[in-house]
Amino acid sequence: MILLKMPAKIIDGNKIAEKILNDLKSKIKNSKQKPGLAIVLVGNNPASEIYVNFKEKTCKEVGFYCERFNLEKNTSEIDLLNLVNDLNQKANLHGILVQLPLPNQINEHLIINSILPHKDVDGFTPFNLGNLVSGNTFLAPATARAVMHLIEHTGVQIEGKNAVVVGRSVIVGKPVAMMLLEKNATVTICHSKTKNLQEHTKNADILVAAVGKPKLITKEMVKDGAVVIDVGINRANGKIVGDVDFENVKDIAGFVTPVPRGVGPMTIAMLMENTLKAMELADRIKK
Ligand code: GUN
Repeated sequence: MILLKMPAKIIDGNKIAEKILNDLKSKIKNSKQKPGLAIVLVGNNPASEIYVNFKEKTCKEVGFYCERFNLEKNTSEIDLLNLVNDLNQKANLHGILVQLPLPNQINEHLIINSILPHKDVDGFTPFNLGNLVSGNTFLAPATARAVMHLIEHTGVQIEGKNAVVVGRSVIVGKPVAMMLLEKNATVTICHSKTKNLQEHTKNADILVAAVGKPKLITKEMVKDGAVVIDVGINRANGKIVGDVDFENVKDIAGFVTPVPRGVGPMTIAMLMENTLKAMELADRIKK
């Protein structure tokens, strides 16, 4: 008998995100109030500029209100702190997003911690991260939510599975590991100091790559039939590639996300959902 290996199903993040955005658009079309998002960009990191442009564009497309603040690279910590404090007071801006990374003269923790928790649409404040860890999610990081949404979309059960997260950032690795744990996966977090990475990844039914290293995950590192979610967005030889060697891994995995058109558009859709949630939270606080 010849066993034919099925190529992986490609998870179309664009299509899934489009549906979410259309639903949001219809939801707020006839509402009296528009969700409002403040986007703060300090300096001119080219990758950050691209991400922020997308976020702003999507806000407008779904009918949200958006105010963008472009600050000089040499902005002082106190000036940024004052801006966040002003934005905290604005009733028409329900969400505040300070694009990371920030220039060296600014302490990121200080700035993030100054965002009011109910306006923290990134879910990066200690309040929101703490709630996530204690299983009482309030506003959760958009990229981690995007990863979970894409895994759930495959229909593959998470409970009892071995999930390996490669990367331990506060933006993705740590929150996604917590979310997988909350869904009863057995979670391993790998990082730059992990020995024998392949030993871990090869055992993963669900593999999330979020390190920012082009094509780090090769087909030898992937278990047959695994769900592989690629969070990486890297520039290599003038092309955008992920952390996963997509062309080869797609012959081994059960499901795999492409880059682009995978996690990226879903992250923005999740950010828009968080902004709507922030508006609803503000309404509840007012009452
Ligand atoms: N930099 C990279 N990803 C993100 C994100 O999701 N939010 C913010 N604020 N900055 C980022």
